[in-house]
Amino acid sequence: MKAWVAPRYGPPEVLELQELPDPQPGRGEAVVQVRAIGLNFADCAARMGVYPRVPRPPFVPGMEVAGDVVAVGEEAEPSLVGARVAAVPIFAGHAEAVRVPVSHLRPLPAGVDYVTAAALAVTGITADHGLRTVGRLRPGERVVITAAAGGVGTMAVQMAAAAGAQVVAVASTPAKRELAARLGASATYGYEEYATAVQGGVDVIFDSVGGRLFRTGWRALRGDGRYILFGFAAAVGPRRVRWLRSVWELASMGVVIPALLVSPCRTLAGFNLSLVPHLAAEMHERFDRLLAAIQGGTLRAVVGTTVPFAELPRAHALLQGRGSVGKVVVTVP
Ligand SMILES: NC(=O)c1ccc[n+]([C@@H]2O[C@H](COP(=O)([O-])OP(=O)(O)OC[C@H]3O[C@@H](n4cnc5c(N)ncnc54)[C@H](OP(=O)(O)O)[C@@H]3O)[C@@H](O)[C@H]2O)c1
Repeated sequence: MKAWVAPRYGPPEVLELQELPDPQPGRGEAVVQVRAIGLNFADCAARMGVYPRVPRPPFVPGMEVAGDVVAVGEEAEPSLVGARVAAVPIFAGHAEAVRVPVSHLRPLPAGVDYVTAAALAVTGITADHGLRTVGRLRPGERVVITAAAGGVGTMAVQMAAAAGAQVVAVASTPAKRELAARLGASATYGYEEYATAVQGGVDVIFDSVGGRLFRTGWRALRGDGRYILFGFAAAVGPRRVRWLRSVWELASMGVVIPALLVSPCRTLAGFNLSLVPHLAAEMHERFDRLLAAIQGGTLRAVVGTTVPFAELPRAHALLQGRGSVGKVVVTVP
């Protein structure tokens, strides 16, 4: 099979298309013939060597795919063979086939195509977990969503609006802000203007950018406000991690003194779903809810760009360079 290998950590162009042995399923695993690859910011971080538990090079990045189960190992349900599935291998998914623990895949109903399926799991589960479970978002509350026109952002805007929240979307360009408004945001801002616009009046901030944005957002929280931090895109340049900039962005976040969380009744929370595998059963429920919402027409996977497998590094460059809108999906012939 062909796979995109990172022979060393680096920018998008380090990726090399190589012929590798076909994967064989181990105990409790399935092999998925990949039909679509959902690209995630985490894949860019893995390629640069800054994602938690990233393998040493050479390795194949790739967090999320959709395709067909072609083989299963011992202790895996044989009837899975032939099933159309969405799967989250975390690494190794930038390939024509990938081995996945069966706990990391979910069968797809008829009518949900591979491109939609590849755009759904990581973005949708992250938004659902962050807003509902961690953020405890309630109807009528005001929520700020940063990178609102991205993969996770487009899901989060729709879910928060559907939950009856007042959605403030933050994104870098007018086109991105217009998309967020079409998806249900009631107000949209650029990064520089949002903090003054919402001063003192926010219940939940759902932020994957971090850095100096955190400080202004933290000040804008109401009593019982919840700041959910789930990424640090501010550290990243279009091709590489900007180390000096990251240090400055980290320093600009300031210091949170635990005792001072008490009186303003504020919550600061962070999560990385790929590091909490014990939530797998819950993830299945969340994914099934997402599928039901897609089928019922109350949620849509916003796929801004599809890129053929042969051009996968271009998809990485687009996502990391802030050129993408919605999800970037790579189609595999
Ligand atoms: N913790 C978790 O479990 C978890 C799970 C999934 C994703 N995430 C995080 O959620 C974020 C969104 O992931 P995604 O895959 O859906 O990506 P995405 O939102 O489609 O793309 C990243 C977006 O971040 C914004 N951004 C701000 N500063 C940036 C910078 N310096 N470089 C690049 N982009 C920057 C850009 O939007 P603007 O141009 O509008 O600023 C860009 O489009 C990422 O930070 C990712 O690491 C976390």
